[in-house]
Amino acid sequence: MRALTYEGPNHVAVSNKPDPKIEHPQDGIVRVDTAAICGSDLHLLHGLVPDTRIGFTFGHEFTGTIEEVGRQVSGVSVGDRVMLPFQIFCGGCFFCERGLTSCCENTNPATDAGTGIYGYSHTTGGYDGGQAQYVRVPFIGVDAEKIPEDVDNLDALPVTDAFTTGYQAAEMCRLEGGETVLVLGAGPVGLFAAWSAWAMGAGRVIVVDKEQYRLDFARDWLGVETLNFLECDVVTTVKGMTEDRGADATIDAVGCEAAGSPMHRLAGVKLKLEAGSPQAVNTAIHATRKGGTISLIGVYGPPMIGVDLGTYMNKAQTMRTGQASVKRYMPRLLEHIRAGRIKPSRVFTHRRPLEEAPALYHTFAQKKDGCIKVALFPNATLH
Ligand SMILES: NC(=O)c1ccc[n+]([C@@H]2O[C@H](COP(=O)([O-])OP(=O)(O)OC[C@H]3O[C@@H](n4cnc5c(N)ncnc54)[C@H](O)[C@@H]3O)[C@@H](O)[C@H]2O)c1
Ligand SMILES: [Zn+2]
Ligand SMILES: [Zn+2]
Repeated sequence: MRALTYEGPNHVAVSNKPDPKIEHPQDGIVRVDTAAICGSDLHLLHGLVPDTRIGFTFGHEFTGTIEEVGRQVSGVSVGDRVMLPFQIFCGGCFFCERGLTSCCENTNPATDAGTGIYGYSHTTGGYDGGQAQYVRVPFIGVDAEKIPEDVDNLDALPVTDAFTTGYQAAEMCRLEGGETVLVLGAGPVGLFAAWSAWAMGAGRVIVVDKEQYRLDFARDWLGVETLNFLECDVVTTVKGMTEDRGADATIDAVGCEAAGSPMHRLAGVKLKLEAGSPQAVNTAIHATRKGGTISLIGVYGPPMIGVDLGTYMNKAQTMRTGQASVKRYMPRLLEHIRAGRIKPSRVFTHRRPLEEAPALYHTFAQKKDGCIKVALFPNATLH
């Protein structure tokens, strides 16, 4: 089969790999219909995730059709059109029973680095990903969610990651109604977080980025206010908009590759003296009011990072965080889609065959060609 593989920092290729096989009676094999490139894939591309091995297949956001199931699989059948949460979970452990499927203790045991995730290095279990024609899906009967007939693949696709992640980010703000929510990052996760903040009753949503085309997209699609951090100081501007207090809640939808501090970019992204740049989380601490909430959904690695903990402590803030526990939100998000409240496929500015994925990784990484998000079709006929 054809698969998007890692060839070293800043280098990916589409290669031939053996078709995946059933390795456990609860496995299934899925023929991939659509696969997206996520902002998290860029951390892999840039060589920031330890133990990313040459030849490893990327891709943790995908939908497909079940091709084969192991003999202990129940609940799904060959031919079902399904979507898969980006994390792999068992459904029966201490954490899964509490809905924290992103903390499952069976799919990447004995580590605090995260549970099993498709296509996300051997640090998260070494499971080959879905930017490929076929993928092995452990615990398929528990993890897969059937896509209703009236929902298109491209609308379901972000429910496996970006939409759900944004939704959980907004939920972690614990909105009661009328709050000012600041969203750092106008990538797909930030956009879905902004939509979700409105849906949960925010009174005002302000989105921050440096890519003007993304801010324009956010304003047109979601009716949010926007700030370009190349043109203003975000902290003083937000304070000026909020009676000198700051936002009630701030969502960090940027993560470890944040721009805006050359010093932290050098230490964190280039020299790797810390686990990426803490610029976005520090902006969140400074731009959120005392007693406010920070929802940290952008990805950071486990090693130490220069976070302004003293200000966070003195401002009596609360931080909530995590990899999104996707499965528990799937029915609710499908309901929003079916009711016509949101069309998640709007974010797919680029819809191309898998063979074009290497070039599209760079288009997405460098924020070129108006790119918001890329959808790949691994089994589409090439012309
Ligand atoms: N926790 C989870 O479950 C989860 C799931 C999916 C993605 N993520 C993470 O969410 C983050 C965003 O993902 P995405 O797909 O939207 O990525 P993306 O790269 O498309 O978007 C990130 C945006 O942040 C902007 N940015 C950079 N520095 C900034 C700063 N200092 N302030 C404000 N904006 C800044 C960039 O210009 C870019 O538009 C990534 O870190 C990704 O790894 C987390
Ligand atoms: Zn992702
Ligand atoms: Zn589990």
